[in-house]
Amino acid sequence: MAEMSEVRAFLGCGTPSQWIDAALANLPVLLIDHAHCEKKAASTALNLLFRYVDRRSLLAKLSQLAREELLHFEQVLELMEKHGVQYDHLSPSRYAMGLRKHIRQTEPQKLVDTLIIGAFIEARSCERFEALAPRLLENPETQDIGKYYQFLLKSESRHFEDYLALAREYSPDTIDERVNTFREIERELIESVDQELRFHSGIPS
Ligand SMILES: [Fe+2]
Ligand SMILES: [Fe+2]
Repeated sequence: MAEMSEVRAFLGCGTPSQWIDAALANLPVLLIDHAHCEKKAASTALNLLFRYVDRRSLLAKLSQLAREELLHFEQVLELMEKHGVQYDHLSPSRYAMGLRKHIRQTEPQKLVDTLIIGAFIEARSCERFEALAPRLLENPETQDIGKYYQFLLKSESRHFEDYLALAREYSPDTIDERVNTFREIERELIESVDQELRFHSGIPS
């Protein structure tokens, strides 16, 4: 498992305090979006299992990852139920598309970029769980969510590591330059004003 310091060092910025305050003030939206994110994380991993059947370590790592994300999905649904939050459709944040539109379209670059983006999404999730947990633990009514977010750090930091290791394995050359490119794009998505509050949104407008 990657250390949290490694996860934070990988990212181009920390989560702005305005986002943390807005997220705590809108917990139902945050939880609903979190549930969608877990489901999407599983679905993205499954898609890769179908597309890259000849990549042995990808199959092993992402099959496990998909199972874990679905388990998280079930756990978030349970938390929502406990807190009286009803699951609903929610427009996705600009975040994932904002990253994916920069994916190169030839192989193996397409795979490598997709894996690097996976590493950023997992790292950012991890960083946000860590930022939210102490604030959620302060309030007896949200303590269970805080504890759950602390619990998620372990698996999400491993997912970050797995995606990054796969990107290195399947890239014909060093991935540093692409990582730097996506770090800059990701930082911009996090530090610029965003119309909607979501788990991976930017600064609330
Ligand atoms: Fe997850
Ligand atoms: Fe994950």
